[in-house]
Amino acid sequence: MSGVKASQGAAFSKIMGIGGYRPRRVVDNAEIVTYIDSSDEWIRTRSGITERRWASPDETVQMMSVAAARTAIERAGLEPGQVDTVIVATVTHLLQTPAIATTIASELGAKNAAAFDINAACAGFCYMVAMADALIRSGASKYVAIIGVERLTDLTDIHDRSTAFIFADGAGAAIMGPSDEPSIGPVVWGSDGEQSDLITQTQPWDKAIPRQDRVRPEDGTAEAATWPTIAMTGNPVFKWASYAMAKTAAEALDAAGVQPDELDVFVPHQANNRITDAMFKALKLPSDVVIARDIVNHGNTSAASIPLAIETLLESGEAKSGQTALIIGFGAGLVFAGQVITLP
Ligand SMILES: CC(C)(COP(=O)(O)OP(=O)(O)OC[C@H]1O[C@@H](n2cnc3c(N)ncnc32)[C@H](O)[C@@H]1OP(=O)(O)O)[C@@H](O)C(=O)NCCC(=O)NCCS
Repeated sequence: MSGVKASQGAAFSKIMGIGGYRPRRVVDNAEIVTYIDSSDEWIRTRSGITERRWASPDETVQMMSVAAARTAIERAGLEPGQVDTVIVATVTHLLQTPAIATTIASELGAKNAAAFDINAACAGFCYMVAMADALIRSGASKYVAIIGVERLTDLTDIHDRSTAFIFADGAGAAIMGPSDEPSIGPVVWGSDGEQSDLITQTQPWDKAIPRQDRVRPEDGTAEAATWPTIAMTGNPVFKWASYAMAKTAAEALDAAGVQPDELDVFVPHQANNRITDAMFKALKLPSDVVIARDIVNHGNTSAASIPLAIETLLESGEAKSGQTALIIGFGAGLVFAGQVITLP
């Protein structure tokens, strides 16, 4: 036997507080149809979206993240200095290095916190819940801030009719910490890289922006500098999300030992109201289960969508602290993750 000591943390973890930041500017479908060939009716009936928020220049990834995390820390009843780990899920932090989690931790006052970014697209929040749960139970961390944040408009072609009406901006954060009782069910997660081209950046940065003095000149330089955007082949993603993700959601319920009639709240990634309806039906959830419909007013904010939707339900009183919720995220990769949680 080796003399190495292993750490051991709390028996369980829980979500202690949730906070969100929604950009000021409201963009309705009437404005969207000035950019793409579409109609208010098509957008509403096909996606459920009536309006979304777009970030202004001052509403940066850093600014929105700090605002959301501050609210979550306050609601968790903690001081920022108690947060020892900061994880940020985003696909729209445009600076390759350093991780934005480090500067977010500093601005929050989470001195010396472990800090890193992850990219799990629209499944980012559920990935972070699984990671924070494992970190807390292993003893590596005690209080973890998990922040899903996107400025998808930075990577959206405003004239692309398959994405311009869907993507939006915002930040949603949660604080996770130790718990005496189980509050986070086992995660059911995975990926399918064979379908990676369904949602993808149109070109890598090194092809978008030519370099004169490459370290490896044999790479060649790009012919023309163009800003990359996110391209999505919507219909296959729609079908995958509606059918395969309902199965994943059912597995997450099963893994947590929760029957559909024991569930209070259903918060799928806010990608499309019709996907939500298809999953709800496939899961055979009782009609009194509260369903998140944040997409109607906030569009698809990728990694931020689940915590923002939870905050909306808690603030409106539709959902309550202590209730059992099923969350499931899915998106570019393709990646997916779902688990049952107790609402803070
Ligand atoms: C994008 C999405 C709303 C499109 O809805 P859809 O029912 O799949 O629509 P389709 O792409 O099959 O297009 C249907 C018709 O609408 C048209 N159309 C497409 N975009 C349109 C738009 N913005 N406005 C008006 N018409 C549009 C198509 O040209 C097509 O016309 P046709 O029937 O004459 O050929 C839907 O596919 C979706 O939500 N996909 C999943 C998104 C998602 O989950 N992403 C994962 C996380 S990021």
